[in-house]
Amino acid sequence: MPVFRYKLSSRPGPLTVEDYRARARRAVPDMVWAYVDYGAESMTTMDANRAAFDRYMLKSKVLTGHEATDLTTTLAGQDISVPILLAPTGAAGLSHWTGELGAAQAAERAGTLSIVSTAASYSFEEIAAGTERGHFFQLYPWADLTTGRHDLTHAMMKRVEHAGYSGMFVTVDVPTHGNRESEQKRGMGNPPVLTPKRVLDAALRPKWWAAFLKHQRMSLRNLIDPGERAGGARTAMKTLSRQFRMMRPELNWDDFAWMRENWDGPLYIKGVLDADDAERAVGLGADGVVVSNHGGRQLDCAVAALDALPAIADRVGGRAEVLLDGGIRRGTDIVKALCLGADGVCIGRPYLYGLAAAGPDGARHVVEILKSEMRRAMTLMGVANLDDLDASWLIPAGAPVPIVGR
Ligand code: FNR
Repeated sequence: MPVFRYKLSSRPGPLTVEDYRARARRAVPDMVWAYVDYGAESMTTMDANRAAFDRYMLKSKVLTGHEATDLTTTLAGQDISVPILLAPTGAAGLSHWTGELGAAQAAERAGTLSIVSTAASYSFEEIAAGTERGHFFQLYPWADLTTGRHDLTHAMMKRVEHAGYSGMFVTVDVPTHGNRESEQKRGMGNPPVLTPKRVLDAALRPKWWAAFLKHQRMSLRNLIDPGERAGGARTAMKTLSRQFRMMRPELNWDDFAWMRENWDGPLYIKGVLDADDAERAVGLGADGVVVSNHGGRQLDCAVAALDALPAIADRVGGRAEVLLDGGIRRGTDIVKALCLGADGVCIGRPYLYGLAAAGPDGARHVVEILKSEMRRAMTLMGVANLDDLDASWLIPAGAPVPIVGR
C-alpha cells in the first residue's frame, strides 16, 4: 500500500474562487479581463462589497451533535441544492465560447439555476434547448418610445415564456451605463477599439483566440433583428449599441407595475439598495428583491450590498424573498449574508472566472467550491439548517465577545 502519491507537478488544481480568478486572468485578453473584473470609476463600491464581509466574524458552538448540514432550499419556486444562483452576466461568450449556455449547464450540474441576461451571447431559445430545467430570465426593460412604450419588452417576455423560463428578474439599476473607465482604457468602450497591440494580446492566448474566431459569439443574440446574420463583427457592433439604447432613465414604477400585470411567473426586482424601494416593489407584487449594486459596475460610491441588506430584509423579509449579490468569493460570505437576512445569493464574476479558466467544468467547480466551503463553515459553527442562521451568529470583527451575566 503506497503511503505517498507522486505527481510530476506539485502545483495543486484550483481550490478556491481566487485560484480560478488567477487562471482566468491568464486565459483571456486584457480587454475581456477589464470587462469581467473591473468596476465603475474608482471602484470604491466594488471594493466596499468585499470589505463589508470582512467586518463580520462567525460564532461557533461545539458539541452540537448535528449529523448533517442541509443546504437544499427553494428560490423563486425552484428547488435547488444550495442557495446560490448564477447572476446574469451579459456577453459571457467573451469569457469562454460556451458563454451563458455553458454557465446554465454548469449550474444544473451543480444542482442550481442560472439567471440568463437579456444581453447574453446565446439566445434564450438556444439556452432552453441545451438545458433540462426552466432557468430564470433577466430583463433589461427596453422602453421603445418610438413604437409604443413596451412593445419590445413585451415581445421578449413572450419569447421567454414560450421557451419555458420560470421566473423574471428585472434589472433596475441601469438607467444609464456605469462609467467603467478601466474598460474604456483597455478598448472595451462602445464601440470596442482594436489596436495592433490588443490584437497581439489576444493572439497570445491562442486557445481563446481560436475559439473566439471559430464560434463567433460576439453579438448579443437576443438583440439580433430577424434576418440579421448572427456571427460577424458588424452584427456584434449593432447589438452592442442596441444594448446601450436599452438603458432608459425614463423608466418608472408604472413600468414595473406593467411588468407585473404582464408576467404570470415569479417576478424579482434586481438592483435595489433602499428599503423604501424594496417596499414599493413588493407592494406592486414583486415576489423577491435582489439587493445589488451590480457588482460595483454602476454607481460608484453606492453602498456595499451587504451593508444595504439588513434594512431591506427587515422591511420585506417574510413577505418576499431577499437575495443578495456583490463580492461573494467564499462560502463564509454566503453564511454571513444569510445571517443578515438573505434567503439566498447570486454570484457573477466567480463563475465567469471558472468559465474563462476551464469552461463549463470550471463554472460548475466554482459553485461546488462555494457549496463545500459553506457546508464546512456551518458544520464548524454547529449549525445544521439554513433557517437557523440569523444575526446572533455574527460578531463585529475586532470586537470582543460580549460578556453576559457577570
Ligand atoms: C454583470 N451584471 C449584470 N447584471 C444584469 O442584471 N444584467 C447583465 O447583463 C449583467 N452583466 C454583467 C456582466 C459582467 C461581466 C458582470 C461581472 C456583471 C451584474 C451581475 O448580475 C451581478 O449583479 C454582479 O456580478 C454581482 O457581483 P459579483 O458577484 O460579480 O461580485
